[in-house]
Parts: sequence; structure tokens; C-alpha cells
Amino acid sequence: MKAIVYDTYGSPDVLQVREIATPVPGDKDVLVRVHATSVNYGDLAGRNFAAVTPRAFNMPMLFWVMAKLYFGLGKPRNGILGSEFSGEVESVGKDVTAFRKGDRVFGYLGQKMGAYAELLSMPENGPIATMPTTMNFEQAAVAPYGAMMALHFLRKAQIRPGQKVLVNGASGGIGSAAVQIAKHFGAEVTGVCGAGRMDYVHALGADTVIDYKREDFTQRGEEYDLIVDIRGRLPYSQAKRELKKDGRILYVSFKTKHLLLMLRTALFGGPKVLCTLAPGSREDLLAVRDLIEQGQLKTVVAERFPMSGAADAHRLVEGGKKSGAVAITFA
Ligand SMILES: NC(=O)c1ccc[n+]([C@@H]2O[C@H](COP(=O)([O-])OP(=O)(O)OC[C@H]3O[C@@H](n4cnc5c(N)ncnc54)[C@H](OP(=O)(O)O)[C@@H]3O)[C@@H](O)[C@H]2O)c1
Repeated sequence: MKAIVYDTYGSPDVLQVREIATPVPGDKDVLVRVHATSVNYGDLAGRNFAAVTPRAFNMPMLFWVMAKLYFGLGKPRNGILGSEFSGEVESVGKDVTAFRKGDRVFGYLGQKMGAYAELLSMPENGPIATMPTTMNFEQAAVAPYGAMMALHFLRKAQIRPGQKVLVNGASGGIGSAAVQIAKHFGAEVTGVCGAGRMDYVHALGADTVIDYKREDFTQRGEEYDLIVDIRGRLPYSQAKRELKKDGRILYVSFKTKHLLLMLRTALFGGPKVLCTLAPGSREDLLAVRDLIEQGQLKTVVAERFPMSGAADAHRLVEGGKKSGAVAITFA
């Protein structure tokens, strides 16, 4: 089978299409013929992991060491990126009961990655499900990552109808889903993003959209019940001025300083800090599928590239000039 592989860390040019061995599914595994996958934050970081310093890594030092060992010290260990996919079941192991050949499926591989290949194998009880009936392969392929993460975070924050929620980083993979899911939960949503993506974030349902280059939202004098900070760059000292007395800030990025702040605010009071890891579970994927089929959640595919265009797809995402997701299509 063909796959988009990389043998060294570096620029998008390290991505090449090559023949590799076809995976052999185990008795409880599903072999999926991939139709589409995506380019997201994790793919960019994984492709150039040698350049990701402990400081740039959005998690504690121990996680950075673990990720370094996992991705490969001097060069990539697995060599195939891609954390989410859609496709058709090619075959199933003898003990698989939930899927059969020909099922249209979508799913999430997380940090394990491997969706940049014509075929992938994963356990039937992993985050894989039949595709939303309302989506095509490209739309479904770009849904799992952002939506599963956003759903997990907003549930952790115990979001409630009528709350005022601000998403700082509303145009990215997680933020664009967070805007829609917060609206679904009945919140009034403010999205913060770059100038070129304001219309996009409005179209996702945000009530108010702020361009972070033109305006510092912390100077508005608004008070929020929940701030979701995607990249973890908003200082707590600033955020807490914008939060109601019992408001919360949820740092998606999971940095050590935010974990310590979470402990401090839990012990000594003040607007609470939340940090959590999203496991990317099958239950979350099924909930995402329900939201999509109910018309509560959509994905927008801004650009699509063939396998041979993977480097261009990465360049486009890295340049930050797209409103919506970038898909790589195989079929
Ligand atoms: N805790 C967990 O389990 C977990 C799991 C996965 C990922 N993560 C974390 O999630 C983050 C990646 O999220 P993602 O995939 O949604 O990223 P993304 O697609 O790269 O989106 C980043 C967002 O940040 C915005 N942004 C950039 N500069 C900004 C600024 N100065 N002020 C406000 N917004 C700004 C971007 O806006 P424009 O593009 O419009 O400029 C975009 O909306 C990383 O920190 C990663 O570590 C955490």
C-alpha cells in the first residue's frame, strides 16, 4: 500500500509518498481503507518534533520526554502521521462483531497516528464508529480530533445554558468545535481569532467575534463564566479579571504552570483553573456523531489535497491562512 511517510524531522518537504507493508489486523481489529485524513496541530508538531523544545511543548517536562521517546529521538520512529480519518472497512478480524466489510467509518488514532496511509488497522473497541450519515468522507475525516477534545473539555467545565463563554483560539481544530458545542449547550459565545477567520467563526455560531491582533478582549470589561484558552498563552492574572466570581478558565494546553494554578485555586479560592487531558474515547466519538447527525456540529473543509500534495497541505496549515480544516484525500 501507499503511505505518506517521513524519515527525518523537518519542513513539510520531508513528507514523501512511498510503498510500505500493509498492516495485518489481529482477531479483534478492523482494517480500514482510508479515504481521507487531515492536517492538524499534532501532525505539524510530530513532523518537526526535533524542533519542539520543552518550552514550546504545551505539557509538563515528563510528557515532553515521553513524547520524545515515543516519536523517536534522532529521527521519527513510526514515520506515518495522521490522527483522524474516514474510510471503508476493508476486512475485520475473526472476533470483530461491531463492523463488517464495506461499513463507512470514521475515527481517531490520537498520538499513535498512522492515518496517512491507504490502510490502517485498529481495535474495534477503539475510537472508531460508523460515519455520520449526513457527511461525506472529507467532512467526516476532519471531525473527530477537534470535536472530541472540545466536547470533553466543555463537559469537564460543566458548561450550562445561559453562561457566557469565551473561546480564545476559536478558529482552530478544537476552538471551531468548542464554539459550536458551547452554543449547543445553550451558552452565549465569544470567539477570539485572527482577522481573516472572523467570518468563519461567526458562521460557526459565535455571537461575538474578536480579532486578537486588533483588540485585547481583556480590555472590554466583560465578565465570563468560562474562558477556554486553546494555546494556553493567556496569563491567569489577566484572565481572572474577566471572569465572574465563580467563573473558570480552562487551559486546553496542559502546561505545568497551569496545573500548579489549578491546585492553587482549588486550595485557596479565586476563579478556578481547569486543566485536563482528553482521552479521545469511543464514547466521545459516538457523542460527536450524534451532534453531527442532529445538525448541531459541522466541519468546514477549506482545502483538499491528494496524497502527493501532503507537503503543500502542511505548508498551508503552518501558514495559518485557512478558514476551516485541510483534508488529504486518498480515494
Ligand atoms: N489537553 C489535551 O488533552 C490536549 C489534546 C490535544 C491538543 N491539546 C492542545 O491544544 C492546542 C492545539 O489546539 P488546536 O488544534 O485547536 O490548534 P490550532 O488548530 O493550531 O488553532 C490555534 C488557534 O489559536 C489561535 N491563535 C493563534 N494566536 C493567537 C493569539 N495570540 N491569541 C488568541 N488566539 C490565537 C488561532 O487563530 P488564527 O488561526 O485565526 O490566527 C487558532 O484559532 C495545543 O496547545 C495542544 O497542546 C491539548
